Amino acid sequence: MFVFLNNQLIEAEKATLHISDLAIQRGYGIFDFFRVREDVLLYVEDHLDRFIQSAQFMHLSCPYSKDQLHSILQELQKKNNLPNSSMRMILTGGYSPDAYQPVAPNLIIMQNPLAFQDNHVPKSLSIITREYVRDIPEAKTINYTMGIWLQPKLAEQKADDVLYHINGTVSEFPRCNFFIVTKDNVIMTPEKNVLKGVTRKKVLACASSYYKVVEGPVTITDILNAKEAFLTSSTKRIQAITKINGQAIGHGEPGSVTTELLKSLVMLEQSFVKQK
Ligand SMILES: Cc1ncc(COP(=O)(O)O)c(C=O)c1O
Repeated sequence: MFVFLNNQLIEAEKATLHISDLAIQRGYGIFDFFRVREDVLLYVEDHLDRFIQSAQFMHLSCPYSKDQLHSILQELQKKNNLPNSSMRMILTGGYSPDAYQPVAPNLIIMQNPLAFQDNHVPKSLSIITREYVRDIPEAKTINYTMGIWLQPKLAEQKADDVLYHINGTVSEFPRCNFFIVTKDNVIMTPEKNVLKGVTRKKVLACASSYYKVVEGPVTITDILNAKEAFLTSSTKRIQAITKINGQAIGHGEPGSVTTELLKSLVMLEQSFVKQK
């Protein structure tokens, strides 16, 4: 397996960073993550735009343009020959002499095999809530401290994931975006304190052909009054949320709107791959 590290494609075992990197010293850096399907880099333009935006937001100067990054990704894809896989691009704070000021970042791109099926039946999840907002939520940073720290709590409560909120207004999951379907078939998703997921964007586009779509505040009370709820991400696509803090949402099973949107999302992905 090859990885891209700074200016070269090298074997993964030989790819190392110095311990002075700000990612190690302070957990400072950004990344993006997306799937490769049948040799096609899925929604790569969106992911590269977000990667560059995250870098700018975090005052990290990415050493490559969007086109250069795209070429590097294609080169790595060719070298590893993994038709169905994931790509993780990480930009770190660099080898900081005072372990505080970001300097020239290190760029790592890793690819791993990732098999994926076109499942049309959404998984059903039980979630809990937690008062928290990520640091600098607009950026896809490498800081997942709260989500990881809450893992034992999730196991103890037999919950699949945790939804962050502030004063009852919800935002996002550690790694996914959140949606509800109201009783009058309005699709709502939080807009503040969230990372704008690429899957979120695709789902909003699919949904707006059939439903009224609103990006704005969603409260825990709204969720309890909703017909359906679901989460989105590149690896989870759409999964239904049927229980929150022990209470059923809607009928307590994946609903028809969630199922339809999952189908639309899979079809969108298939047509994106066909066009390439
Ligand atoms: C905080 C956060 N929100 C949402 C998402 C989902 O984004 P995407 O749909 O681009 O995978 C992620 C992905 O890791 C994330 O880290």
